[in-house]
Amino acid sequence: MTNSLPFSQACENNKAPILAILKQAFASSSKVLEVGSGTGQHAVHFASNLPHLQWHTSDQEEYHLGLHRRFEAYPCENLHPPIVLKVGQSTLPFAHYDSVFTANTAHIMQQAEIAQMMQTLSEDLPRGGCFCQYGPFTKEGTFSSQSNADFHQYLVANGYGGYRDIAELKAWAPKLSLIHIHPMPANNLLLEWRKA
Ligand SMILES: C[S@@+](CC[C@H](N)C(=O)[O-])C[C@H]1O[C@@H](n2cnc3c(N)ncnc32)[C@H](O)[C@@H]1O
Repeated sequence: MTNSLPFSQACENNKAPILAILKQAFASSSKVLEVGSGTGQHAVHFASNLPHLQWHTSDQEEYHLGLHRRFEAYPCENLHPPIVLKVGQSTLPFAHYDSVFTANTAHIMQQAEIAQMMQTLSEDLPRGGCFCQYGPFTKEGTFSSQSNADFHQYLVANGYGGYRDIAELKAWAPKLSLIHIHPMPANNLLLEWRKA
């Protein structure tokens, strides 16, 4: 039964524009870790359209049942079952991958968690590795739309970390270069980082 799988309409809307960027950004990558795989829709789409990659998934344990069910419904040879990864609690295994992808996690994590993730990526991602980070961010403290400012307020009021500024992410990751800021639909961005 695929109709009862966890589902995100946003993923359906953004997976094609994200894939267009990943085709170039991950062209010379081979082993990618996705942080916060959520419903697994991105993982299925990206693994099946980027067959040169081994796509490894991860999330907090409560997401794993849904991820396993989606991957059984949409099997793909280069798509790997989730590992338990909770930034702030897990050992972060970034040294074992040449590239990392995450979508819509920076504004959900607590500040200490996203800071730790950026710091560990900066230290542990192998040289030449690529980190693609999709989501809503502020630039120089400015929201790109009123709806983004409203959503940030909602997130903070409900115990989430809220939007992060690009300058803050850069400061946490001194060994990563932010080589492209790709504008994406719905006032989102895809930040393409590379380890020098
Ligand atoms: C808004 S959902 C995004 C899911 C999916 N990437 C997408 O774009 O639809 C936020 C995701 O961040 C994950 N997340 C939140 N805090 C986390 C943490 N500390 N460590 C790892 N993942 C975390 C959640 O478990 C969830 O999968």
